[in-house]
Amino acid sequence: MKILLLTHAFNSLSQRLHIELKKRGHTVSVEFDINDAVTLQSVDLFQPDLIVAPFLKRAIPEAIWRHHTCLIVHPGIKGDRGPSALDWAILKGETEWGVTVLQANAEMDAGDIWASVNFPLREASKASLYRNEVTEAALQGVLLAVERMQQPDFTPEPLDYSRSDVKGSLQPLMQQSDRRIDWRRDDTATVLRKIRSGDGFPGVRDWIFGREVMLYDAHPAKGLQGEPGSLLGYSANAICRATLDGAVWIGHLRDKSGEHPFKLPATRVLNRLLSDLPEISGGYSDIHYEERGRVGYLHFPFYNGAMSTEQCNRLREAYCAARQRDTRVIVLMGGPDFWSNGIHLNTIEAADSPADESWANINAINDLACEIITTESHLTVSALQGNAGAGGVFLARAADYVWARSGVVLNPHYKDMGNLFGSEYWTYLLPKRVGEERARRITQARLPMGTEEAGELGLLDGYFGRDNPQFLSELQQRALALAEDADFERLLDTKVATRHADEAEKPLEAYRREELERMNLNFYGFDPSYHVARYNFVYKVPKSRTPITIAQHRDVNRRDKDDWSQAS
Ligand code: COA
Repeated sequence: MKILLLTHAFNSLSQRLHIELKKRGHTVSVEFDINDAVTLQSVDLFQPDLIVAPFLKRAIPEAIWRHHTCLIVHPGIKGDRGPSALDWAILKGETEWGVTVLQANAEMDAGDIWASVNFPLREASKASLYRNEVTEAALQGVLLAVERMQQPDFTPEPLDYSRSDVKGSLQPLMQQSDRRIDWRRDDTATVLRKIRSGDGFPGVRDWIFGREVMLYDAHPAKGLQGEPGSLLGYSANAICRATLDGAVWIGHLRDKSGEHPFKLPATRVLNRLLSDLPEISGGYSDIHYEERGRVGYLHFPFYNGAMSTEQCNRLREAYCAARQRDTRVIVLMGGPDFWSNGIHLNTIEAADSPADESWANINAINDLACEIITTESHLTVSALQGNAGAGGVFLARAADYVWARSGVVLNPHYKDMGNLFGSEYWTYLLPKRVGEERARRITQARLPMGTEEAGELGLLDGYFGRDNPQFLSELQQRALALAEDADFERLLDTKVATRHADEAEKPLEAYRREELERMNLNFYGFDPSYHVARYNFVYKVPKSRTPITIAQHRDVNRRDKDDWSQAS
């Protein structure tokens, strides 16, 4: 089938659908929902058999849904309608939620139902649920709907609230007043639900030191308590605030009217205001280490997978400490939502000199990658529970083995960030695994990649587990088996010998120098593309057109061939 993905942005969910539909032989093209005229033009050019809308903020024009089957992916159970589906489910403490694939018609979210898939609702942020459970359920729902479209006798189910399995209802757009925290009355669980219901967007409006800020990235602060609403202190990048029955850590804030009106670490936003507060040492950490048998697991669940200079430095120290332990294998765990998305574009944007901060950040991530690549005491594994992008993919590849949860999405390229050349020793690591020609194609194509393709190319050494619990349980078995392998010493010797041979052929330092020469031009040269792209990314400037890499119907070279089966 020719399937057009009509979407507000090519986000993780749309990327996953793109990968999986293409894998099943469909011809898939993408169009950003910019305005009705552009959407109509894309339908005209592509002539799709089916339009799927994974993430839309506006209704599909009637001129399109009247003549084409348009399926909307709604992150709610059957009967749920409205723009704040997940927000309400989290705030109300639902224990089961779902995704419904329904046909677009004149009434928002009220069209015939093609598929609906439910899942248990974890206690997690909206963004985390979206990237995990919602994405998996949406994929299952869309695949079911596509299959059903090809069955001539299938008729979608009209929305009928008298049916026992239609449990949802029409819910309004959630307002800040619905999420507002009453620090004197709300217990920790309530505060967490309120913040999580708006994390990543829009956040919960609150006041700290009399400043209006939006709150994100909340966690229970175990063992801490104080006058409800009072600030108890700070630790790493987070501040601690007391609730009715305990306290919460808040890792990120956004000061909409401040000098840098985008998300930043909480301590960075409050800065000097914190001077009267105590530092709670060991209170909150975005890095932690644990051991099981002869395997050390290093976790670094950095918010949004972004790694600032300071986080890279702390992680390098933690990694070097792990290397001193009497273990055999070190597993680099990243976080449950992202493994890494490379350097921290928000802290760079907020720096006095973004060019200098970019330089410091890339060097700090390179220092970390260098320690991993040159490790001679341990075998190393990168374990991807969540997605990885740009420098994050190559940092993962610095380890001896890269294992991923099935369904993780990789974006092994930098060019979308204003033609950034990239570093993290990718010019050493990528061709070594996939060969020169494929390395060139991967970095030029700028496309998201699924685990199957990454496995075939050699970018991944294994992928398993349908969800994080399954992945983690198999990961532990594999890591332990590696540590106890009768051949462990030989495996380690071979790795060290290979590294020495590579070093003799071309020193690691030479790769770094060459990459950084190109990055220097990106940061300090005449072409401002990287700085513009970073600004647009951080300030979320809407895209004015769909990149040709994914909008195949706009690619004249491909269109003129008039052979769409080759296009995907
Ligand atoms: N620095 C700071 N923030 C980052 C980030 C980075 N490197 N990568 C992602 N984020 C943030 C996004 O701004 C977004 O923030 P939000 O919480 O306000 O929504 C959040 O992480 C999720 O990103 P989003 O783009 O919505 O996720 P996605 O899964 O749809 O897409 C990527 C993932 C990796 C394709 C995309 O985030 C991206 O291109 N990131 C930049 C990668 C990069 O160029 N890094 C620098 C070079 S090493």
